Formats: sequence, structure tokens, C-alpha cells
Amino acid sequence: MRDVLASAPGKVNLALLVGNLDASGYHPLTSVFEAISLREYVEIRGTLAGDSAQESTVEVRTLVYSAGPNAMQPRFDEKATVEFAPFDGPEHLAVRAVRLLVPTGVRLGVTVHKTLPIAGGMAGGSADAAATLIAVNEWAGLGYTGEELSRIGADLGADVPACMVGGLALGLGRGDAMTVIDPGTAQPEYSSRWWVAAFAKEGLSTPQVFRQFDALRDNAGEPQRVEAAQEVEGKENTTVSVPGESISPVLLAELQRPGVGIASAVTNDLAKAAFTLRPELRKVGSACMDAGAEAWILSGSGPTIIALSRTANHAREIAEAVDALPMVRETAVMWGPEEGARIEKNLPSWCLDVRG
Ligand code: C5P
Repeated sequence: MRDVLASAPGKVNLALLVGNLDASGYHPLTSVFEAISLREYVEIRGTLAGDSAQESTVEVRTLVYSAGPNAMQPRFDEKATVEFAPFDGPEHLAVRAVRLLVPTGVRLGVTVHKTLPIAGGMAGGSADAAATLIAVNEWAGLGYTGEELSRIGADLGADVPACMVGGLALGLGRGDAMTVIDPGTAQPEYSSRWWVAAFAKEGLSTPQVFRQFDALRDNAGEPQRVEAAQEVEGKENTTVSVPGESISPVLLAELQRPGVGIASAVTNDLAKAAFTLRPELRKVGSACMDAGAEAWILSGSGPTIIALSRTANHAREIAEAVDALPMVRETAVMWGPEEGARIEKNLPSWCLDVRG
């Protein structure tokens, strides 16, 4: 059977609005996702097992690439690849994605070309799952639609649907009930914007950030967004968002502006919690502004900081400036909104060809 190649984008959150912890231990989210041009590429090679009832065997190998401020393209990172090898097992989201679609009857080899930071709040794991789902769907001729694959993949990670649909998308619920606002483009266009991502040396745990968020809200006795919304119920209100349920039409309209027109609207409710845990992250944002960024924001639950820039060249200058900071591991320059998961004909030239 023929090999299949697919890719899926990472994401940034232009808005991340967080509600109160619910009984299931999660926080309802209103999130506006933007797919960005750092993509994960997934290659699938396989054969049918002799016995169709036999449990599928799946082997995964992840090759890690890094970007860097002056790199027009990602570069293979041997050290990071060796460090990632222990995670190339049954818990890898690509392996779990294969097993969801073809639990029995196949022998598959999966190569993941990873450009998104590990635990960086840019949905790298979810992008692996999304690209694998569409690759396996194609390879095995399963005929699922993108929407069906999104629904299947949401069990693997809350960001899988965002990586699948790409472009600009609104997520409600836990950020996973997805509505496409704009499908994005395959190449940068006049309406695209450029981002600098600064990846921190030290990771930040998502549950810890949410716990800190709860503690700050409890201590401050802040009126909850939901209560604030209820207070204005009955009156026409275009400025209130209820996390998990709605986004204010004003905010949504601002985030649909082209290019850096969104600068004053980007927002992340988790920022204060993340900066309480890791105050040095604010310095990364300030350095981006000093270098001329239009705006900066925490990406997801962090620790990645992203900054908005008018042009690719300017983004590279900002990246170079923040790359020198001690808490920054590396930087990447990217644009959005980009297309979602798609089948690819060829690997990009910077990917190692390991098929031999
Ligand atoms: O989605 P993920 O499994 O990465 O979430 C990790 C943890 O982050 C959850 O177990 C929960 O503690 C917290 N979380 C949350 N609300 C969300 C998403 C995650 O409280 N919407």
C-alpha cells in the first residue's frame, strides 16, 4: 500500500477566556484559535497484518527540528531527537490516533517531523494526532470527513479539532466545540500576520497554571465572568463573553481584523496565573515590545510567549532580540492564519528523508 504524508498546524490563542472550575475538574473555555505556519509532518508506511482480527502494531519515530531567529527553515536537532525518543511509545498521540481509527489488522510505521515545541502551549501533540488521523484515513481509505475526524480526535486532546480545521476558529465548552471563522491560507497573504514565538527553557504545567488561576480568583474575590454576564442579562450587551458559552460580538469582530489590526484585542485569562508562577516571562514580553512588536501575549497556558509583528523581517529582528534572553530556549518566526490538517505530496526540503 502506498505511503501517505500529512501535516497539521500548531495554534496560538488570540483570546482565551476562562470560567470557573466545574464539577468534572475542568474550566469552561471560550477560545479563538489561530493556526500558524509551524506544522508537524507525519509519514505513514504500512502493510495489512495477515489476520484482520489481530491487534494493530504501530511503531513511531519522532524527529525533532528547531527554528531559531535567523533560520528561514527549521533545522534537524539531533540532541532534542534523542531526548524525545523515550516518548516514542504507546502513549504518543500519533500512536493513539492510529489505534482509534484502525485498532486491528495493520502494521504501521509512523514518522513524526516535529517543529512545534514540546509542552509549549502551541498544541504540538494535538497537531501530531490531527495529521496522523487524516493520514491514516487516507491510507486505509476509511472515508471519514474532516468534521468526523475532528470529533474522533477530540478524545485525544482538546486542541485536536483546532489543528484539524486550522485558520481562525472559535472553541466553546472546553475549547473543543469548534466553529470555523476563516479557513486560513496555504501561503501568506495581505491579511496574514507575523508572529514571533519565544520558547522558555523551563516548562510550565497546565494543571498548575489552572490551579494558580483558581487561587488568584478566589483571593481577589473577583466577580466571575458568568456573574457579570448575568447582571446585564435582559439588556442588550455586546461586550460580555461567557467562557464556554459565548464570545462578545465586539471581541469577535476585533479578532477578525486583518494583520496586526487585532493587536489591542488579544487576551489571555491565564496570563496573570502563569506570570505569578514564572515572573520572568513578563520580561520576554517587554523585550518583544522594546524590539517594536505590536502586542504580546502568553500562548495558551504557557510558557511560550508570542509577539505580533507587521512584517516577516521585523519579526526576525524581534526574534533575534529575545533569543538573547537567558530564559529563552529558542525562538521561531511564523505567520497565520494558516490552513488546517492536509494531505501533502512531498516533505519540505528541510525534513530528513528517513525512508532510505
Ligand atoms: O487538556 P489537558 O489534559 O492538557 O489538561 C490538563 C489539566 O489542565 C486538566 O487535568 C485540568 O486540571 C486542567 N484543565 C482545566 N480546564 C481546562 C483544560 C485543562 O482545568 N479547560
